[in-house]
Amino acid sequence: MKIQAIETLVSDWSGDCLGIGFFEEAVDLEKDLAQLNQRLEGVLQELIEETEFKGKSGEQPWTRISGQGPIRKVVLIGLGSPDHFNLDSLRQAAAALAKTAQKQKAASVGLQLPLWNEDASVSAQAIAEGIELALHQDSRFKSDPEAKKASEYPQDISLLGMADQTQAIEKAQQICAGVILTRELVAAPANVITPSALAETAAQIAAEHGLTLEVLEREECEAQGMGAFLGVSLASDLPPKFIHLTYKPSGTPRRKLAIVGKGVTFDSGGLNLKVSGSGIETMKMDMAGSGATLGAAKAIGQLKPDVEVHFIVAAAENMISGHALHPGDILTASNGKTIEINNTDAEGRLTLADALVFAEKQGVDAIVDLATLTGACIVALGTDIAGMWTPEDSLAEELTQAANQAGEKFWRMPLEDKYFEGLKSPIADMKNTGPRPGGSITAALFLQQYIESTPWAHLDVAGPVWTEKENGYLNVGATGFAVRTLVNWAVG
Ligand code: BES
Ligand code: MN
Ligand code: ZN
Repeated sequence: MKIQAIETLVSDWSGDCLGIGFFEEAVDLEKDLAQLNQRLEGVLQELIEETEFKGKSGEQPWTRISGQGPIRKVVLIGLGSPDHFNLDSLRQAAAALAKTAQKQKAASVGLQLPLWNEDASVSAQAIAEGIELALHQDSRFKSDPEAKKASEYPQDISLLGMADQTQAIEKAQQICAGVILTRELVAAPANVITPSALAETAAQIAAEHGLTLEVLEREECEAQGMGAFLGVSLASDLPPKFIHLTYKPSGTPRRKLAIVGKGVTFDSGGLNLKVSGSGIETMKMDMAGSGATLGAAKAIGQLKPDVEVHFIVAAAENMISGHALHPGDILTASNGKTIEINNTDAEGRLTLADALVFAEKQGVDAIVDLATLTGACIVALGTDIAGMWTPEDSLAEELTQAANQAGEKFWRMPLEDKYFEGLKSPIADMKNTGPRPGGSITAALFLQQYIESTPWAHLDVAGPVWTEKENGYLNVGATGFAVRTLVNWAVG
């Protein structure tokens, strides 16, 4: 499938399926649309009238055009109110058209959408992202050759009335390759995506895009005193892998960043076993933070910004066996702090503790961790919005801007110091879980103990990394959430 931006106007274009975007209450056929309507013998006007098309978002009437004319189908795409128009409106509109074209077996597609902020390159990028992400289908685990075959449609999509935007489209495709890698890592089951498989994926990214990779084996993690991380992997038959992938620009880096992702390839809960109804069967997705970290690495490896980025994943599986961590055990993290394990199901923060200490040792200017850390965060914010915790207003601002550009939703949550009382242990420096109320906040406060002075943000992405409903450019299953925000943050 090829995406290109061309100067051709709708009125001159010919092909299988033409999509035209309209704002709400601004469904007028002016200029080249008037010409197109004439050329199509009034079909556009008829379609608008017959379907009472108002340009509301989600409205998408279409009609077939009979005869051997230049265009076979026209689709009107409602963009909603211009007051709410943003880059995600473009992604959603493009996704809707791409899916329609695919269902209707249209090979060549033309698309006319307004520019956001009169910026052709960010608009073209967003449109291309919407198309690429909407058309991604994952049939790796189907056996039927028919089901495995990728659709041949659409073959080419032209963004009409634009100057050449090859670079913006290529950028979108590089970023989407990262998002798609993330989706496929998160959707793959725990018998496929093991800690070793994550390390191998990191090795592939390193080889393909010129990053450097260091993988610490269990013994090396022991030598570094990573007792919290290693405690989580005790009962697994699979060896833990501590993954450190580094992107360095060719010149002096403008700044140095670390992205740390939770990589629990399966979370059974450990001896505090997840009971039925707790979603244990979905816990292959407990490595979605690391999935996004590796997806961002793949994108950044291609975009080659002038920043240094460390991608860090402490990958392990949380299982049960005679070697398992006991509730009540005390572990020592690599910064010397001791942790009384009052719940083996709060394992993500244990892996992240050592990963954050390691990240800070890299001498970076900022650290962002992302993790499917708590069910409590889903209770607080629902499945569309991730939680953000940071003591640093400027970092919150940077991430919020990056997220807005990406059309991904984060809500800043409080690091309420007082709640740390809930983590006090009579015997160790802290417990790993506090009381149920404010569970996502105490999780963030726990992580904060492993940061000394580097600006840091914690993103709890437990909700948005997975969707049960198709939604615009998100298909059912793994969403690839946070990759585009991380890329915007690192590159911008
Ligand atoms: N991986 C889970 C959090 C989670 C739950 C992610 C649902 C996605 C969907 C995490 O390791 C966990 O089990 N957290 C516990 C913490 C509790 C024991 C304090 C939770 O949220 O119940
Ligand atoms: Mn858990
Ligand atoms: Zn977990």
